[in-house]
Amino acid sequence: MKFENVQFLQSVFSLKSLPEPLYSEVAFAGRSNVGKSSLINRLVNRRSLVKTSSKPGKTQSLNFFIVDEKLYLVDLPGYGFAKVPKSVRSSWQQLINGYLENRETLACVVVIVDLRHEPKDYDRDLVEWLRYNDIEFLLVYTKADKLTGNKQQQKAAALDAGFTVTPDQRIIFSAKTGKGSEQVKSALASYVKR
Ligand code: GTP
Ligand code: MG
Repeated sequence: MKFENVQFLQSVFSLKSLPEPLYSEVAFAGRSNVGKSSLINRLVNRRSLVKTSSKPGKTQSLNFFIVDEKLYLVDLPGYGFAKVPKSVRSSWQQLINGYLENRETLACVVVIVDLRHEPKDYDRDLVEWLRYNDIEFLLVYTKADKLTGNKQQQKAAALDAGFTVTPDQRIIFSAKTGKGSEQVKSALASYVKR
């Protein structure tokens, strides 16, 4: 899989309007502003396929992209962002939860966390929930470009302990430099149905 032919398919604001479950799907989840949309842009080498912003709360719907005519990528709104009104937050949450719980073609959830930070409760809750529901996930520790190599390893080890994963279950990543991009792509390619 080359991740070369990528097209925006649709934005989904309600579970009723999900696209036909034709292909395997990979969803990208994480705290608001962590870099979910930037990660997708880097994977597909398109600077602005997905809109990004320095202000949290940019992505407000489930955004579907189709890659190489065989895989859907789904950019999710971020969680844990206080400035979004409570009513909006809970409707996003319902949309995200409903999607994650019921989507038959969901093959993997990429859980994106900031490499610089301690493991956060809401990230741990998500990982626990995915484990409990037997949904495969891949942890991506992003914004690695903001740390030196030594610090990257140190921080990654702390996150590994927090999420109880081993180094082969996560990828250190930077949307800015492209570090880890090939690794993420080859992990995701394995979810395409042959
Ligand atoms: P929401 O849609 O609001 O949930 O945010 P998001 O998780 O999609 O984050 P987005 O990709 O919009 O990025 C948020 C900010 O972080 C932007 O200013 C990006 O340029 C920056 N950013 C994302 N990834 C990286 C990275 O790997 N390195 C650096 N230095 N900045 C990054
Ligand atoms: Mg976004």
